[in-house]
Amino acid sequence: MHSEEIWVIANLGLGAKFQDQATLVCDALKNEGLNAKTVDSFDLYLHIRGGDLSLLRITEPPIAAIIQVKDVVLIRALESIGVPTFNSSEAVRVCDDKALTHIALSESNVPTPATVVPPERYPGQSVPETFITYAEEVIGYPIIVKAAKGSFGKEVFMAQDRLQLETSLAQLAHRPLILQQFIRSAHSTDLRIQVIDGEVAAVVQRRPSTGDFRANLTLGASGESVSPSDDVLRVAVMASNTVGTLSAGVDLIVDVDGRPLVLEVNSNAHLRRVTEITGVQVARLFAQAITKQIVNLK
Ligand SMILES: Nc1ncnc2c1ncn2[C@@H]1O[C@H](COP(=O)(O)OP(=O)(O)OP(=O)(O)O)[C@@H](O)[C@H]1O
Ligand SMILES: [Mg+2]
Repeated sequence: MHSEEIWVIANLGLGAKFQDQATLVCDALKNEGLNAKTVDSFDLYLHIRGGDLSLLRITEPPIAAIIQVKDVVLIRALESIGVPTFNSSEAVRVCDDKALTHIALSESNVPTPATVVPPERYPGQSVPETFITYAEEVIGYPIIVKAAKGSFGKEVFMAQDRLQLETSLAQLAHRPLILQQFIRSAHSTDLRIQVIDGEVAAVVQRRPSTGDFRANLTLGASGESVSPSDDVLRVAVMASNTVGTLSAGVDLIVDVDGRPLVLEVNSNAHLRRVTEITGVQVARLFAQAITKQIVNLK
């Protein structure tokens, strides 16, 4: 038997920012009349025995889980016991790895900056010299180096020459990473486009703080509400649909020739700042999209 609860699953121990995002979503669901509660992912343990999977301490699974974690194992386990998840484990898996995201985007012809991905390395192994030379040839400096599973722009570097490239690669050691062409845009701005249920809900143009090229709001970038061209909006929706997200923050850069290029799709995008900047109640729109999904389940 399913209870009528909806769980907003978050890693609450990560701090105020993550608690705030979970509460924001939970309150929006309650405002739509749903019986939502926040659940700490640290309270959910998998137990697999004799062909049976259960989540410890759970007797009644929720009717749906709103996912604010990147714990693909937990999300997959919920799906395995019949709980609908938003976003799904597959969407989170693809979004959480920039190399997998770029593969998915390429399959749907979604434009992205030129990107090269080195082979998997184990501890003690480094990126082959020939790969570095190849990247220099096909991308050219400056080269953007990113951890495939980075967060909040913290592991995005710019290399102006081979020495800087080698330093960045050493910093990421044997971790999965991608190298990317540096895209010049007007005033180094990029766009965070929140797509909900296949439609653009809000757009924030972000401008990096002085001396930085990264336009993450968490790194102190400023944001303003803008209305991009239909072409840009279409690419953002295409990116979200391709990776299968019900709600996603698509990071997109419009180059100096006006071409939209997708940088990444955030399956777990935080919503509060987008509302503060644009005035759009994105959490409410998300809650309405969830309501629609739940009605369809019945
Ligand atoms: N190829 C690029 N050319 C120019 N600027 C880039 C490029 N890639 C990233 N940037 C800048 O760096 C910022 C962070 O990059 P990106 O969005 O790819 O990673 P991230 O935000 O760290 O990822 P995550 O959301 O997983 O934490 C972008 O918002 C953009 O301002
Ligand atoms: Mg980003």
